[in-house]
Amino acid sequence: MQAEQKALELLQKRKSGHALEQAFYTDAEIFALDLEKIFYRDWLFAIPACEIPKSGNYVTHKIGAYRIVIVRGADGVIRAFHNSCRHRGSILCKAQKGSAPKLVCPYHQWTYELDGSLLWARDMGPDFDPKAHGLKMVHCREVGGLVYVCLAEHAPDFEPYADLIAGYLAPHDLGNAKVAYESSIIEEGNWKLVWENNRECYHCGGNHPALCRSFPDDPGVTGIVGDDMPEALSSHFSRLEAVNLPSKFHLADDGQYRVARMPLKTGAVSYTMSGKAAVAKPLGRIPFADAGALLKFHYPTTWNHFLPDHSLVFRVTPVGPTQTEVTTKWLVHKDAVEGRDYDLKTLTEVWMATNDEDRRVVEDNQQGILSPAYEPGPYSPTQESGVLQFVEWYCDTLGARIAPLMLAAE
Ligand code: FES
Ligand SMILES: [Fe+2]
Repeated sequence: MQAEQKALELLQKRKSGHALEQAFYTDAEIFALDLEKIFYRDWLFAIPACEIPKSGNYVTHKIGAYRIVIVRGADGVIRAFHNSCRHRGSILCKAQKGSAPKLVCPYHQWTYELDGSLLWARDMGPDFDPKAHGLKMVHCREVGGLVYVCLAEHAPDFEPYADLIAGYLAPHDLGNAKVAYESSIIEEGNWKLVWENNRECYHCGGNHPALCRSFPDDPGVTGIVGDDMPEALSSHFSRLEAVNLPSKFHLADDGQYRVARMPLKTGAVSYTMSGKAAVAKPLGRIPFADAGALLKFHYPTTWNHFLPDHSLVFRVTPVGPTQTEVTTKWLVHKDAVEGRDYDLKTLTEVWMATNDEDRRVVEDNQQGILSPAYEPGPYSPTQESGVLQFVEWYCDTLGARIAPLMLAAE
């Protein structure tokens, strides 16, 4: 209860409209609480489904102390399991990704079907019940070509989110995608700093020369759209909705996710140095080249950009109190051919540069916060409404999951 008590006191101390107290960005106990109360409870984005297109394809992932394997079954269904053998617990799939007709433990070769049931275990005696030793399931859902997992015993309701985003994602046709490129970087910063940085473009002009060629650093695009929506934005939404392209800004009641199809800079249609499309054979059926980017976030693990020609998925994985992995995947049409329909450098250079620039500002931010002189400063009401929205979601979520325990303990 000590860590909970500490977190609760710090939450109560928080000045509204200000950044968090130092411990939220640095402290090992609070990091453990973040894992336990948020990452081990919520739905987490794992992979695009197109990464495991065939039966037996699998991907492994580590979230805090948990290791999981996500595999496509013989029936085409994607499932997730704890990546730990039911014999003596060995890790089952060691590679980051692979393909196997059955999942075979490297230790004593217990062999599991792709649906997790135990098929074969040598010399376990007459009383051994294979049915009681299938792999432990992890909740797993696919929506619009994106795979989410939940480590909790009882997963929160996924439907409201799935129902909303299915319509927004359908025109992007992620079922026909392939991963053209992926990058994983480690940022030496707390996962919340990665998010805070993502949720504003106050820093874009000074740090992202490549991205700023196509992405507007208008706070209306990254921030929270309120009742005072600019006319240009409402007419952009109306024009797209009129051809049945779901585009309107939608923020979940509890603030956990948002979708909106936002305009890019005038003349730009994709995130390239020229602003032109990166892929000649587009992924999806977006009726206007200048439809902009469908921006989506879902706390605590993913933000995405879906463009008329390609899509980008990002995954945030906390590694330690001051270390976060950020994985980016560039998705293109599965029949697009590198060298003919797209050039890899043209496709990836803007976000490769942007990710590295973001890594640097997040690391600088972390270094400054580690100083005993750090004091939470105020967010800009016009430029950082998105950051405030994230921080409030975090404080409300953590507080709500700690407070009942504290009351019960009194
Ligand atoms: S630990 Fe997996 S077969 Fe023994
Ligand atoms: Fe950035």
